[in-house]
Order: sequence, then structure tokens, then C-alpha cells
Amino acid sequence: MAHPCAIVIFGASGDLSKLKLVPAVYEMFSHGLLPDSFVLVGYARSTHKDREKKIPWTDEEYRKDCYDAIKAARGKKGVDEKLWAKMVNNIYYIAGQYDSAEDHARLAKRLLELDKTHDTAGNRLFYISTPPEAFEPIISRLGEREVRHENGPGWSRLIIEKPFGTSLATAKALNQLLYKSWKEEQIFRIDHYLGKETVQNLMVLRFANSIFEPIWNYKYIDHIQITVSETLSADDRVGYYDKSGALRDMIQNHIFQLMALVAMEPPAALDAQSIRDEKVKVYKSIRPLRGARFDHMAVRGQYGPGEYLKKGQKAPTKGYAAAAKERGIDSTVTETFAAVKLYIDNWRWSGMPFYIRTGKCLPEKLSEVVVRFRGAPQTLFQKQCETAVYPNDLIVRIQPEEGLSWRLNGKVPGGAMNIKSVALDFLYKSAFNVEAPEAYERLIGDAVEGDQTLFIRGDEAEAAWSVLDPVVDAWANDKSPPQQYQPGSWGPKKSFDLIENDGRRWMYSTGEVEPVIACSL
Ligand code: BG6
Repeated sequence: MAHPCAIVIFGASGDLSKLKLVPAVYEMFSHGLLPDSFVLVGYARSTHKDREKKIPWTDEEYRKDCYDAIKAARGKKGVDEKLWAKMVNNIYYIAGQYDSAEDHARLAKRLLELDKTHDTAGNRLFYISTPPEAFEPIISRLGEREVRHENGPGWSRLIIEKPFGTSLATAKALNQLLYKSWKEEQIFRIDHYLGKETVQNLMVLRFANSIFEPIWNYKYIDHIQITVSETLSADDRVGYYDKSGALRDMIQNHIFQLMALVAMEPPAALDAQSIRDEKVKVYKSIRPLRGARFDHMAVRGQYGPGEYLKKGQKAPTKGYAAAAKERGIDSTVTETFAAVKLYIDNWRWSGMPFYIRTGKCLPEKLSEVVVRFRGAPQTLFQKQCETAVYPNDLIVRIQPEEGLSWRLNGKVPGGAMNIKSVALDFLYKSAFNVEAPEAYERLIGDAVEGDQTLFIRGDEAEAAWSVLDPVVDAWANDKSPPQQYQPGSWGPKKSFDLIENDGRRWMYSTGEVEPVIACSL
């Protein structure tokens, strides 16, 4: 049953709103996840294109902006004009400052009117998609209850975008601010990775198949690696990125979520509380990243000048530091690449490392989890083969080409005993032949339904920061620049040392071809 409601987007003129949120609302409407009795209200400081004259967008102009955004997002599929004609009159715009009581009062008034004209039943979903500086004023104003319509007939919920703080202290402060006027059940801290199909499939893979559980531990697994690599540069996002860096931008949230789903114990039930309880336990079991061997546990890099892939085409970059300088930042130690080695000190993962890495300007855009199993005992084949046979890998590909791949050893047909690592592949696209919904569509839909399973709980965000705070502090106090890497390469040399010093190596991608190993009979 689709719920009537008003969805209010703060930051309606921003990139995220145009690229993801408005198209997601269109898809929800087209899939029947929103009824005719819904409204979308864009709220932003931005005025019309002519900012100088401070002429606010009209509803009509915002509608046109939404149409263009949907059209761009749908590409060749185009906009269904009949559907759009049904939806367009449910879209409104309010220009307002984020901290102005008066502007929020206008919003409150408009929402009450819309409840009447569109039967939205007093249900409100607020989506904060602004730069982080605006989080506090918006949350405070919303806390004043009028906009939330707290004593009204419906529910009110709040989705808050990342970054959820920049450290443990700031995340705690943000939680405290939220708890002044919202209950945890009303707060939806979003991480769009949790809306990706393959990420959700991690739980199905682990807990709906009996073959994995007995071997899903340090006794059978040698190590787990998680790579989230991007080809894009951060040159155009220096303003945001320089305060963030790879650790805060990707590891604290997206990669930690992947790791928690891979590492957690089976939850007691598939509800939000049980699943999030288990994820928190993972973070709390991570061995603190401090001490003398810190350098062997966390590595940072920054891309230098060279060429990277921009929308599939080679493009030049002067390097991150030069891009930052052009935007007024004289010297920057912000990392555009980070690799971390972690131990989860519990019974399941005792002594077994997790290697994680992420970076900009890398050769491929891919997100994958590689579970590398221990090698077969040194008996039969090892003795008679020129090198050790390959270990088995289970590769969970989150993007692109979502799917799973098992790497197993097979005999090359013929008289000789030659062994080759081969892949058993399961591709989402060909197995199900349906298009998965975009992450934001799934997540906004869950928020409308009040399902918090795929959102981050307050204590979970804090627990993740507790793990990374020492790294953030150590890097902030270390004024020596991060190691440079060539754009289009797989990162700084030290990130290879991080894993190779342990006698292991990074898996680049599933496409890597392993040579044949000759064995004598
Ligand atoms: C965002 C980060 O959260 O995730 C970006 O701020 C990053 O820096 C993006 O590019 C990656 O998301 P996806 O879905 O393209 O892997």
C-alpha cells in the first residue's frame, strides 16, 4: 500500500537532488510506490538562475527543472509524458534560508494547505540533502515542531544525508541535536550503498544458503579484501572534498557498511533492530588502529598530475594539490586514496585481516568484496606443480556487472596435468532479467514505509567513527604530504606494501587472467 505523504527536499537546487532524488521520486510514482496523493516540495536558498536579482524560482520553474533532471536520468528511456502530466501538479517549490524561522513558517503553512488540496494525510518526509553546514540550522528549525506538524494526524520522518559528522565528537553532537526533537524511529541516516541490490544480497548469500556458514570464518578464509575504486577525479569537488578525504567520504560509511554485512553474526531476525545490533558489534570488535605499527595499518595517497578517465575518455589533471591550489587552498594533505588493514577481534575472525582500499583517479570504477580462502593443504598438487595452485576466491561484485564469481581450479583438457583458475559466474542481469531499482528509489521508499533496516542507527554511526578517529587524528597531525600516485594507477606504492608485506596481493578485478600451472604426474 503506497502511503500518502509530502516529501520535502532541503537542498532542492543541489546536484544530489537533481541527479538522484527527483528521478527516484519519479520512479517511485511510476512503480506505484507513491499514490496520487503525494507532493514533492523543493526547498532551497537558491533563487532563479539570476541569483543577483534574487528572484525566487516559481513552482513552474522548479517543475521544469525536475522534468529536465528526470529526462537526463532516464536517458534513452525518456519521460513517460502521461505519467508526468499526472505528477507535475504535485510538485512545489519554496525559496527559503535554512535558518530562517519566517521561511520555515511559510513552509509549514504550505504543507498544511497541501494536506488539504492533495490529501497527504499530514504525513511528512523531510530529506536533508544540503551541504553539512546547513544540517544544524535545518534540524533546529524543524525541531520547533511547527513544520513537523507534530500534533497532526500523520507521521513525520527525517532522512539525513552523509557526512554524518566528521569525527566521533561531531557525530555525537549531531545525534544529540537530533534527539532533542526526534526519536530514533523517526531518523533515517542514509548510506546509498545499502540501497544497492548486491549489498542487500550479501545477507541473502550468507544466511539463505547453508554452504557458507560453516566456512565463513578465520579457519577457512585467509583474508577478505574490499575495493571501491573510482575513475573520477576530485578536481571539481575540492570545496567539499578537501574537508573530507577518502577515509571520511567512503570508508567510514560505504565500505564499513559492506564490511559489517560481510562480517556480522547472523541476526536474530531480519528486522532493523536485530540487523543493526549485529553491525554495531562488528565495529566494537575492531582492534584499535593506534600504536607503533600504525603505518602498517593505514596508508594514504594523493593523485599527482597525469591522465584519468572522465566518462570513459582520457582527460588531463594537474593533480589534486594543484586543483586545490587553484581554488585557494595553498597546501593540502587530504587523501584521495586510502587503504586500511583491520582485525575484527571476535571468535569468528580471530587474527584474520580485512584489507580495504578506495581512491579517485584509479583505472576502473568497481566495488567488490573478495573473500580469499586458504589454500589446499600442501600435499598432492603442490609437490608436483611448478608453483602453488591458486587459492579459491569468492568475489561479490557490487558494481558494475553486479554478481558473484567463484574462482576454482580446473584441469586444462589434454594429456598433461595442467591446472588453471577458472570462474563460475552468476550475473544478476542474466539470471533475473529485471532491472534493479536505483538505490535512492529503494531507500526513499523504505523511509516512506517507515522501515529503517537499510539506514544507519545513531550508535552505529558513532561506533564507526570510534574506529577511524585515531587515523583521522594521526593524518591531520602528520604534515608530511600523502604519497603521490599516478592517475590511472591502482594507488600509491605503500598500499601495495600494506598487503604484500603479509605475503598477499590485491585482486584488481575479476577480469585478471591467471596463467596455467604445469604439474607433473
Ligand atoms: C559518495 C561520495 O557518497 O559516493 C562520492 O561522496 C563517491 O565521492 C560516491 O563518488 C560513489 O558512489 P557510487 O554509487 O557511484 O559508487
